[in-house]
Amino acid sequence: MITSKELRNKWINFYESKGHVNIGAVSLIGDGTTGVMFNVAGMQPLMPYLLGKPHPQGTKLCNVQGCVRTVDIDSVGDATHFTFFEMMGNWSLGDYFKKEKTAWSFELLTKVFGFDKDKICSTVFEGDANTPRDDETAKLLVELGVKPENVFFMGKKDNWWELEGTVGTPCGPDNEWFYPRTDGKDSSDFLTSDRYVEIGNDVYMQYEKLEGGKYRELSAKNVDTGFGLDRLLLFLNGLDDGYKTDLFSGAVKYLEQVSNKDYDTDEKARKAIRIIADHVRTSVMLIGDKNGIVPSNTGAGYILRRLLRRAVRYCKNLEISPFEMQNVAKIFIENVYNDAYPLLVEKEDYILDEFGKEIKKFEATLVSGMKEFDKCITGITRKNEFMSAKDPAYVPETTISGKQAFRLYDTYGFPLELTVELALDLGFTVDTDGFNEAFKAHQEISKAQAGSAKGGLAEQTETTTKYHTATHIMLAGLRKMFGNGTEQKGSNITEERLRFDFNLDHKMTEEEIKQLENFVNDVIARKIDVVKSELPYREAVSLGAYGVFNAESDDQIVSIYTIDGVDVQICGGPHVNNTGDLGSFKIKKEESSSAGVRRIKAVLR
Ligand code: ALA
Repeated sequence: MITSKELRNKWINFYESKGHVNIGAVSLIGDGTTGVMFNVAGMQPLMPYLLGKPHPQGTKLCNVQGCVRTVDIDSVGDATHFTFFEMMGNWSLGDYFKKEKTAWSFELLTKVFGFDKDKICSTVFEGDANTPRDDETAKLLVELGVKPENVFFMGKKDNWWELEGTVGTPCGPDNEWFYPRTDGKDSSDFLTSDRYVEIGNDVYMQYEKLEGGKYRELSAKNVDTGFGLDRLLLFLNGLDDGYKTDLFSGAVKYLEQVSNKDYDTDEKARKAIRIIADHVRTSVMLIGDKNGIVPSNTGAGYILRRLLRRAVRYCKNLEISPFEMQNVAKIFIENVYNDAYPLLVEKEDYILDEFGKEIKKFEATLVSGMKEFDKCITGITRKNEFMSAKDPAYVPETTISGKQAFRLYDTYGFPLELTVELALDLGFTVDTDGFNEAFKAHQEISKAQAGSAKGGLAEQTETTTKYHTATHIMLAGLRKMFGNGTEQKGSNITEERLRFDFNLDHKMTEEEIKQLENFVNDVIARKIDVVKSELPYREAVSLGAYGVFNAESDDQIVSIYTIDGVDVQICGGPHVNNTGDLGSFKIKKEESSSAGVRRIKAVLR
């Protein structure tokens, strides 16, 4: 058994013995110079030196550097993906090149770490119009002892390393090292199986990336190496699951205990445990960093928020309190990273406090947001059922609209990515372009509101929304009592009451008023979901939907709100989620409004 602490030391000792200087690690948070939000690679802080500036500590450097990569966030949950990991690196700044580098990597893997040389696989660059095939590295590898059939030539997609989305940064072809997680007969399945995991990467950085996908040869031939500590640790301990190393075993054991679920046999729990453990660890690192960040709605803070909220959601799956995440954080701070990252211990209270605040914020809206999400799905499903019954050729809809996704974001704090993930689980997708449009439109409205003195725009509050739903139920009751010819003739809602006009040929009796009140209060007591669907006007009408609405055409898409068994109205909303949210309904006044039109004033308590 080799521990993470021992592995860090072995790396540094090996490269120091080859004349390298340990330069230590920098902050995880990008300094803004490269356009990359987090430190995603050990080479990032060395950028100027790889481009030619002399480094004060020499031409041979090494370190262990924390990195955060969130592009792989959706892969977290399997055995080998993490959003935070430590990259063990070493560099030649115009010093040694391919011959030394291949030899040292091979020596380290086979002699220091005891990897079986016959199982090691390696990929090299096959070349393209601008850069030749890397025969030199392939030849060196075979001379060192890598089996010729274990060396694979691959294209730019696989064997070229650069910081995506940047310009003016160093890059070049690379040589990647792989090892099989499980035994097989030979490496013939290298390209097709998921047995092989990349453990390290030697980049021959001889180019600078320019605008428009062009490259310029650098004056110096550099080497940039990165080996993932988390993955190496797994192989060195004969494991096939990165969450079984000493970095994660404490967190996993704790989560098993509090959930009373078994990591090894319960696949669903295993995925949840991995995601919680990974996201908690990364969040600890981001909050506890020397340039630490806190959850927010933009930039790096938003990524942190996404990680924490996704973990909260998986706590629900695991049926544990999301505040257990604080205890998991403690394990990482006190038992795992206390030596390598002493600042975490210093900032422990602060980190746990930030966890607590964000969990509390999201907990408050998660349950109602999940209900809202379920209702989006029900709304689409109902529409599909209805349309398919009418037209067998109808293609069912499987997309959650951008507006719905935005509502989940804006009202319930669901990061878009969370909605996408939830949707995917049910075979649905999300209109992300539509989400971005809704987001922009919302920003513009907010700006306009902030700009105008009182806005003048009708404000939809929680209370007025409730009154709005109450008018729907009340009208349904009136139609039941006085027939479907009963229509809304006017409506005015304030924070204090609803006022509703409708056609009726007589003053309502005491008894009728009581009957209407009872009808509304009964619907409230039955706690019925208010479900929104969007469909063509023609279909809405044939569903029995009615409302004060002049359609431009039969095909116009309208939204309808269904209170199952009570009412279907064409309406722009918004409405409460469930009739149970309304409280109790009381009619204060019934009077004449004009000829043949009655007016009711009512309140909710
Ligand atoms: N920069 C290389 C990597 O990140 C070593 O894999």
